[in-house]
Amino acid sequence: MIEPQHQILNGRNFHANEKVAYLLPEDNDEMSRVHKQHVVLKYTLQSNFQAPLQEKLEQGITVLDSGCGPASWVFDMAKDFPNSKFCGIDITSAFSQDTKPSNCEFTIANIAEKIPYPDNHFDFIHQRLLILGLTDANWDFTLKELLRVLKPGGYIELHEPDLHELNNMGPLLQQLQHTMSNMLQSRGMPPKISNELQGRAIKAGFVNAQVEITALKLNHGGQAGKMLWDDYQHGYTNMRPVMAMSNAEWQDEELYAIHIDNCAKEAEALQTSVNWYTCIAQKPL
Ligand SMILES: C[S@@+](CC[C@H](N)C(=O)[O-])C[C@H]1O[C@@H](n2cnc3c(N)ncnc32)[C@H](O)[C@@H]1O
Repeated sequence: MIEPQHQILNGRNFHANEKVAYLLPEDNDEMSRVHKQHVVLKYTLQSNFQAPLQEKLEQGITVLDSGCGPASWVFDMAKDFPNSKFCGIDITSAFSQDTKPSNCEFTIANIAEKIPYPDNHFDFIHQRLLILGLTDANWDFTLKELLRVLKPGGYIELHEPDLHELNNMGPLLQQLQHTMSNMLQSRGMPPKISNELQGRAIKAGFVNAQVEITALKLNHGGQAGKMLWDDYQHGYTNMRPVMAMSNAEWQDEELYAIHIDNCAKEAEALQTSVNWYTCIAQKPL
């Protein structure tokens, strides 16, 4: 259990715990964005999970969502699989304790430190979108911790987007993405973590690691593309205070907003898409 610590940057509430690398705010607006993002991802990926666990989830297993945010995935899964038990861990307490289904529990903890569960405890671990949260060393440590708390034969499912190289990326979006990559790199965070999930999972001791890549359309191709762009734009808007540290021009809120609007037009015209990586692996028996 950790004590949340905060700092205000450009009027937004960010983490201020020196052991937490996370770059997005933790206020209501960001939590509402993350909730909407869950809806978009479920719609575009057409499922909440890909590990071959439908039957076991129906029968009843124990599941961890690592970095659960406002717990949208946990609540959704808990409703779909009432016989299974769902545990969420996050550094923020954004999840609602009042409305939580009875088969859910939450812990405020830093996944870059010892995860507060015993060895061989979970049948399934899900972790999504920690690209802005973990340093290079954190990733290796966290994956080893996740291996420790997973039962032998249990599954881990990791989801990350490739935000460095988009398909059909124009110069405006490239400027935004590469500024972010440089900013992540300068903080010791791997900007290409999506491409490294399989190798890192194997290095941590997982086996049968497989990756599936899905190209998600950005601002074209119907409703899903528009919804994904809205999330993208909202995420980048919330990240402006840290992006402006790498590009002084973006300290001007209006100039930054104009750049993002132009990126929207560019992505639509060039039919840009983001590669979404899903890595599924198992703990050896
Ligand atoms: C982009 S959100 C994704 C939330 C959720 N996984 C989802 O996909 O809906 C990333 C979450 O990771 C959490 N996080 C970042 N670094 C963390 C850390 N070191 N330990 C625990 N949680 C962390 C943040 O607080 C945030 O809620």
